[in-house]
Amino acid sequence: MLKLNHVSLTFNQGTQDEKKAIDDVTLHVKKGDFISIIGANGAGKSTLFNVIAGTFITDSGNIYLDDKDITLTEEHIRSRVIGRLFQDPMKGSAPGMSIEENLALAAGSGGWFQRTSKADRERFREKLAELNMGLEDRMRQPVGLLSGGQRQALTLMMATINPPKLLLLDEHTAALDPATADKVIELTKKIVADNKLTCLMITHNMQSALELGNRTLMMDHGRIIIDVEGNERSGLTVDDLLTKFKDLSGEKLTNDRMLLS
Ligand SMILES: Nc1ncnc2c1ncn2[C@@H]1O[C@H](COP(=O)(O)OP(=O)(O)OP(=O)(O)O)[C@@H](O)[C@H]1O
Ligand SMILES: [Mg+2]
Repeated sequence: MLKLNHVSLTFNQGTQDEKKAIDDVTLHVKKGDFISIIGANGAGKSTLFNVIAGTFITDSGNIYLDDKDITLTEEHIRSRVIGRLFQDPMKGSAPGMSIEENLALAAGSGGWFQRTSKADRERFREKLAELNMGLEDRMRQPVGLLSGGQRQALTLMMATINPPKLLLLDEHTAALDPATADKVIELTKKIVADNKLTCLMITHNMQSALELGNRTLMMDHGRIIIDVEGNERSGLTVDDLLTKFKDLSGEKLTNDRMLLS
């Protein structure tokens, strides 16, 4: 459903700061795939998402979504069918607006000037209750009052209230404490499964990368150097991944964040 064919992107081309962030990446994602993506800092993971979401247009190569060539499609058009979450819980929702207003905007059923219908309010309440974060009784409160975990759960709900063709999660639990991060991961699993979403998730937690979803990619210097699924993946341990990385890149993985988590 998502195809990247020989996609490359270089920042600051022709200057001293030239950086090839995406280097000839070819990736074919099937409908319903839940793919975890790992790699050291600066490997190109977020840039890959930026290229898929249209934040940056590729230098070369093509991107297809459901066989439609979206290589040059603007970001705000792609965002209608591509949902995205970032590490920072402050992104993705409007702090001065209430939970209800944020949801109404995300659902496309109202917002600043329109009253939310009773049916929508009921639907939001039900869905909020499913998050199990105590938000269903706080629908009139501004989002700015919520904790990071509550806010990330709400953003996840907003990004999926009209199920997107593709959900991009960029370390969306990295800023949360471990217990809250676990809770948001559980919610993610449920929402992806319930809506049969196609999802790409960047994480620095190698263990959860192997446990979640059906396929794991490792990026290095703008390339996908490991791509495992099925039996090959289910037999892999974090140590195997580290060894594989060393064999392929010739370097030891020195990312403390990855090793410690
Ligand atoms: N807007 C930009 N302008 C210039 N260089 C950039 C830009 N965005 C990213 N880069 C560079 O491209 C490379 C890949 O960055 P990217 O953010 O994709 O890495 P990442 O794998 O997401 O790393 P992290 O784990 O730290 O989030 C890095 O060298 C980074 O400095
Ligand atoms: Mg990143």
